[in-house]
Amino acid sequence: MIIVPYVTGYLSEHYADDDFRTLSAYKAKGGFEGLKKALAMEPEEVVEIMKSAGLRGRGGAGFNAGMKWSFMPKDTDRPKVLVCNGDESEPGSFKDRLIMERGPLQILEGILIAAWAVGASKAFIYIRGEYKEPIRCLEAAVKELYGARLCGENVMGKKGFNIDIVVHSGAGAYICGEETGLLESLEGKKGQPRKKPPFPAQFGAFGLPTTVNNIETFAHAPYILDRGVDWFRGFGTEKSPGTTLYGVSGHVERPGLFELPLGTPLREVIGHAGGVRGGRRLKGVIPGGMSMPILTPNDIDVPMADEFLSERGTHLGTGGVMVMDETTCMVRVACVVSYFFRDESCGQCTQCREGTGWINKICERIEQGRGTQQDMKLLEDVPAMMEGQTICAFADAAAWPIQGLMRHFRDDFEAHIREHKCPYPESFEL
Ligand SMILES: Cc1cc2nc3c(=O)[nH]c(=O)nc-3n(C[C@H](O)[C@H](O)[C@H](O)COP(=O)(O)O)c2cc1C
Ligand code: SF4
Repeated sequence: MIIVPYVTGYLSEHYADDDFRTLSAYKAKGGFEGLKKALAMEPEEVVEIMKSAGLRGRGGAGFNAGMKWSFMPKDTDRPKVLVCNGDESEPGSFKDRLIMERGPLQILEGILIAAWAVGASKAFIYIRGEYKEPIRCLEAAVKELYGARLCGENVMGKKGFNIDIVVHSGAGAYICGEETGLLESLEGKKGQPRKKPPFPAQFGAFGLPTTVNNIETFAHAPYILDRGVDWFRGFGTEKSPGTTLYGVSGHVERPGLFELPLGTPLREVIGHAGGVRGGRRLKGVIPGGMSMPILTPNDIDVPMADEFLSERGTHLGTGGVMVMDETTCMVRVACVVSYFFRDESCGQCTQCREGTGWINKICERIEQGRGTQQDMKLLEDVPAMMEGQTICAFADAAAWPIQGLMRHFRDDFEAHIREHKCPYPESFEL
């Protein structure tokens, strides 16, 4: 199935056009101008441009991409590696899939620019295993690049600029999207996150200096290099420049992807999806994929950029906007969320392995009308004990949505305990 965004910007402008995936059409639409400009500069200049563009990583944490590129060690003759993270397993997130299917050459051009900037000679694109079509699209695009001598040795005729690109099918676990879990999986091991330090820039894929970026992050780079920092900063906010592909799902009339500037008010983003289905009232919105705390209708005008969302106790994450209408039972939401995290914990850390299971059991008990006030206390204590205590941020991602639901929808939990049943007969089925 082809998904084409309802609103387009520079990234998705040509996504309706099948040919955009071929090298000739991509070049005809301005493709590889960014790389050409990058290769005319010293690598350090490219890094500086990326830093001042302020492109924030689109994989969830929002770290400045140019800054990350600058961490790659310069005083080493060991091979350097780039990893492009296409694992995209966060429930509510589906933007990277679209970019891989409709704009694979944007990603590859971004990878080539980054390779020149950081001196990498090998790049791995790690793609969620279930994403068969994205894998096919990227493999076809990489093949075309080799044929056109746009990767391999002396790329674009630049002597000594050698880069090999490998497409790797992922291992089918959410935790393989966490960058060090991904690196382990790439090496053929169990996808269990590593303790940090050392960070990937020092000890990454196969022990080599490595930079990991998200699919969408790489896809923005060619436009920055080609059109310039001021142009890029013309979109979005000062702290979060550029556009992003908001993926709107749930109780809306027209779920889909919408490319809009960062900082677009939440009301407008949901408006592009046709608003809440059937004219019902809005009850809650998860703004950035399932691991982000929920917002309430009071937050409907918040600009969708991390600096504004963090003031409201949540984050932009991956821009996956999940809309819930007034029929929604928030305890059922807590059951779904906690079931996912219980299932996906890699099990290395006690707080995460045990905490996610406890939370799920407590939520299910409350939903079934068997909860007590002691369960409410546990639902406050257990997530607090998981946060910031573990090898990776998965435990935080498991704790935050529950904390958000308890903060804003405590009444829903209390009503289940008081009435010994779920008071939302019209809510979705578990
Ligand atoms: C549990 C967990 C899952 C993650 N899954 C993904 C993912 O599927 N894709 C992704 O790009 N980043 C994911 N991340 C973030 C990566 O660890 C990493 O920060 C990101 O790939 C860096 O790219 P960026 O700086 O371009 O955003 C995940 C993080 C955690 C803690
Ligand atoms: S926090 Fe959870 S997912 Fe991350 S390493 Fe520990 S057990 Fe594994």
